[in-house]
Amino acid sequence: MNYARRPGIDSVALGTLAARERETFLATHRESARLAQASATHWLNGVPMHWMRDWSTPHPLFVRRARGAELEDVDGNLYIDFCFGDTGAMFGHSPPAIVRALAAAGADGLTCMLPAERVARVGEKLANLFGLPYWQVTQTATDANRAALRWARAITGRTRILVFDGCYHGTVDETLVRALPGVQGKAGTRARAGLIGMHHDASANTDAVPFNDIASLEKVLARGRTAAVIAEPVMTNIGMVLPEEGFLRTLRELTRRHGALLIIDETHTLSSARGGYARARGLDPDLWVCGKAIAGGVPCAVFGFTAAVEAGMRRVQQERAGGHSGMGTTLSANALALACLEASLDELMTPANYQAMHDTAAYLSEGLGRVFAAADLSWHVARVGARLEFGFGRPPRDGAESEREAWPELEHAIHLFLLNRGVLLTPFHNMMLCSPVTTTAHADKLLTGLHDCLREIGSRNV
Ligand SMILES: Cc1ncc(COP(=O)(O)O)c(C=O)c1O
Repeated sequence: MNYARRPGIDSVALGTLAARERETFLATHRESARLAQASATHWLNGVPMHWMRDWSTPHPLFVRRARGAELEDVDGNLYIDFCFGDTGAMFGHSPPAIVRALAAAGADGLTCMLPAERVARVGEKLANLFGLPYWQVTQTATDANRAALRWARAITGRTRILVFDGCYHGTVDETLVRALPGVQGKAGTRARAGLIGMHHDASANTDAVPFNDIASLEKVLARGRTAAVIAEPVMTNIGMVLPEEGFLRTLRELTRRHGALLIIDETHTLSSARGGYARARGLDPDLWVCGKAIAGGVPCAVFGFTAAVEAGMRRVQQERAGGHSGMGTTLSANALALACLEASLDELMTPANYQAMHDTAAYLSEGLGRVFAAADLSWHVARVGARLEFGFGRPPRDGAESEREAWPELEHAIHLFLLNRGVLLTPFHNMMLCSPVTTTAHADKLLTGLHDCLREIGSRNV
């Protein structure tokens, strides 16, 4: 690995630490190593889903169980989990409410292709909590986003969509793009590098503009060709990029003025507040999407929409010739998912749980600031409710700026150092979540580990 020089970090010490931590990991994860070898026989890359190799570990870490805020691996090592399955388990691993719902509903039919008895009740609860009157359920946030975009095109009669550069909304083809300013043609929007097996140009009907850039946003919307803008209210998939004051309000005004629908994807920012970021800030989207943690970690996602959008959907259905809609999957809205969704709405997304998550996240955020100051590093911490991210420089204004600040070798070394001391961070950038059962003692363990790591590699200490 290339341990390039950057301010504040001793690249030689970083290389030494990374090599030692790899050795430590190998010595303390022998059963995981054995299972990694055995799994290579029948699984692509030795894992049932390829991104399970995206961690900083020399071989996959095999999990025995995860409960609450803790996880145990097959070697008996225990971890405080700040990754929570990259948000799926944001309310803690196997919350008792979900375990009860699984046991109670699991014996009464898992999937029937018919609405379960509880459906009217769950619809009302979704409407009450998130403030939109109409709903649909899918299996994944990817599917919900794909459907929301399809409906937006059908309703507006326009083909193009607009995304913010560096976004991630799941594996929805037309969102897998980047903005490349200065490159000729198609307003500088290009398919992401590295897409596998894509048979068409993912950027053909997409415009990507920088987050927080009102002029670029307006320039595209003013062409009158955009069916929908799909956005996270806070970018969370390229580090964390916070909206500047007034940016989201302007986004809402411009989409209305130029006839584009606004789809807000809160799959990650559900961490912000009970009812989500959009409701808390009065953002008033046309469609609203959430997956991952919405049913406590059981596969399920939802999208909600306004009465005007619902009217548009009915019009589209009446006018079309029939046949396949091209939306939906067999297991979407199955009975088990609906039961867990209801349990999550009733017992996980409570004011008390949000308060606990936010209190611990605030404690962790302040602690991180102190650790960086002690190491004389001008790194930043961004927080959206229970979700935090630290970055190796000033708070970025857009995706490209955030990407320039990233430092993968350093990230990997820090993550492995912490993992070897019983603390799990998300493998992608430096994301941490605080669940309702994450305590300040858990946060202290992370802070101590990070402090020790920086003491070893910070150039101030050389
Ligand atoms: C904001 C956002 N939307 C949608 C998705 C897709 O979720 P899933 O992979 O569960 O479909 C992700 C995944 O990370 C996401 O971060």
